[in-house]
Amino acid sequence: MKSNKIHWSELVVGGLVASLLLMFLSLLIYSYTVLHINIPACLTATQPFEKGEVISRLDPVTWREKYEVHVLARMWQFEPAEIFVRAGTKVEFYLSSMDVTHGFHIVGTSVNLTAVPGALNYASTTFEKPGEYRIICHEYCGVGHQNMMSKIIVFPAGYIGDPREYQRPLVSTVTDNSNTSKSTNLGKKLFGERGCAACHSIDGNNGVGPTFKGLFGQKVNLQSGETVTADEAYLKESILSPTAKIVKGFQPSMPVVPLTNEEVDSLIDFITSLEK
Ligand code: CUA
Repeated sequence: MKSNKIHWSELVVGGLVASLLLMFLSLLIYSYTVLHINIPACLTATQPFEKGEVISRLDPVTWREKYEVHVLARMWQFEPAEIFVRAGTKVEFYLSSMDVTHGFHIVGTSVNLTAVPGALNYASTTFEKPGEYRIICHEYCGVGHQNMMSKIIVFPAGYIGDPREYQRPLVSTVTDNSNTSKSTNLGKKLFGERGCAACHSIDGNNGVGPTFKGLFGQKVNLQSGETVTADEAYLKESILSPTAKIVKGFQPSMPVVPLTNEEVDSLIDFITSLEK
């Protein structure tokens, strides 16, 4: 006959399980209430963002400043195009993509992520040394892939003032001309930030797309056999509907870049300013 008495070994196992469960739960409650650590959540369930931005926050654990960087990857650019952070401050990256899968590697660091449409990927790091760090896409994403990059500018911990004004060690590829108008300057900025520079050069060399240098007013031979003049109307059409007129010798690979009317005009002003 079987005994109804509980064997001592069962009591030991039961007690162990119960105490482990209690320990786990109390640690969870402790980390949430005392350490203010967020209980891990599925990132795909968090509210997606539609804008790349750098948010400065107070870290509830260390009571120090930290950055939350929302990075949006799309053909063939990262948004924001430039990220300014303070040296020695924790930087958390949340990465997503607007179109296809892109890579996200910060050269010289262990941060290496994949930007997947509809999902968020996370990594964090602290830049100890001030300077410029390049971000490159390491996942083939189309013709502009090899030029898809952005950068992080790390300013010294003791720097006071507007981070965007921090003297950057590298000179931008677009030369500065103080005589140019405000609109042209905006166009120049957009040219770099919206990925135009990935395919169009301003030095006369054709890339994935035709060079912008000396383009304005030129006769352009099209794939269709027609010839058009690169006037404002042509530039506007080419920006708004990139595949309407394909230049002979090039592929219809340019994506539609979301731009306001003002931004389109600025880009045209910038292109117009690039004389031969
Ligand atoms: Cu994006 Cu390669």
